[in-house]
Amino acid sequence: MAGDRTTEHNVGTTHGRDQSAATPLMTLTYRSRATTPLSESQLSDLQHSAAARNRAENITGMMVYNDDRFFQWLEGPPASIARVWSSISQDPRHADIEALSVHSAPTRLFANWSLKLTTGLGDPLIGDLTAAAVSSTNAAAERLAALVIATEPSEARLLLLAAHAEFRSISALTELLIEPAARCLGDLWADDDCGEYDVTLGLCRLQTFLREVAADSVQQHSEHPLVVLVAPLPGEIHMLGATLDAEALWQAGHDTRVRFPSTEQALERIVATSWFDAVDLSLSPAFTREHRIDRMSHIIDSVRRASKNPALVVIAGGRAFYDRAASSADVHSDGSSTSAAHLSDDIARARRSHA
Ligand SMILES: Cc1cc2nc3c(=O)[nH]c(=O)nc-3n(C[C@H](O)[C@H](O)[C@H](O)COP(=O)(O)O)c2cc1C
Repeated sequence: MAGDRTTEHNVGTTHGRDQSAATPLMTLTYRSRATTPLSESQLSDLQHSAAARNRAENITGMMVYNDDRFFQWLEGPPASIARVWSSISQDPRHADIEALSVHSAPTRLFANWSLKLTTGLGDPLIGDLTAAAVSSTNAAAERLAALVIATEPSEARLLLLAAHAEFRSISALTELLIEPAARCLGDLWADDDCGEYDVTLGLCRLQTFLREVAADSVQQHSEHPLVVLVAPLPGEIHMLGATLDAEALWQAGHDTRVRFPSTEQALERIVATSWFDAVDLSLSPAFTREHRIDRMSHIIDSVRRASKNPALVVIAGGRAFYDRAASSADVHSDGSSTSAAHLSDDIARARRSHA
């Protein structure tokens, strides 16, 4: 995009390894609005002096300036964060300052930057990352798909962090941004705008970034926790769907077991040796995989035969079901899932009709 600009203050490798494993690490995100629009040189001055102080304070992070709004992620020792935050929150260059999250973190996400600045996340992204705005257009998902296959994916990571700070829900982040971005990656490939390797890389990175933002998520209490096996269909190399499903089911309070069986026989052994109330098998969230539908029905038949639970409920997921290229009848499942966000309900519905 014309006018996109990303500048970096690379601080080498020392921040990546906090001197002591016991050093506590805190992260803080906030957003604000510039009191008067900043020129390029004012922004550059701000970044240079902030990066210098961050270096001295052992702080790393990233900042977006876009559409006269700021979004910033800071990480470092709690006392340093408190000192710098005290300065930032009194700085007259911005107003409407809203802290979005403050919590301890296991590792740094922007270890190589004392302050990475970007103005290129696509307008009006920061202003309009509300769930309503993101769901009404595919622009944020398209942007995320493009950023996640870039050589350096930290802007994709920041976009997800900013969206998570806005939505405050992993399930909304999954349904409104991550799953649509996975489909956008598939579309880029179908249009010859990227290779299959890029799609796989992009999906892996989405999976990694999801784990980072979901690190502090909490499990809800469930009145009826189920033991659920979550697995990609053997032979499916795209694991993102299973990861999203597992996170969603765990959050809903289920006893979730994630496995990656490489063969049909390995999957049969898992269901033959352990009790599961339900099995969630997924195909790629990016590609439709029409040629795997027959095989999926065959595998689901053999999973039922091998299952320790004769009333096993099987749910099928993946882009094929979102696009309605396949239905649960086609694959002999008890239900199909179009988003991890609804999987727990899909399983409950399938169990009711199974009973
Ligand atoms: C949007 C915005 C982000 C900022 N980010 C940082 C930062 O990451 N680190 C930092 O030391 N100062 C940052 N500053 C500058 C501080 O507000 C402050 O000017 C600077 O730390 C000097 O602190 P002092 O005025 O208390 O001496 C930022 C300012 C603004 C307006």
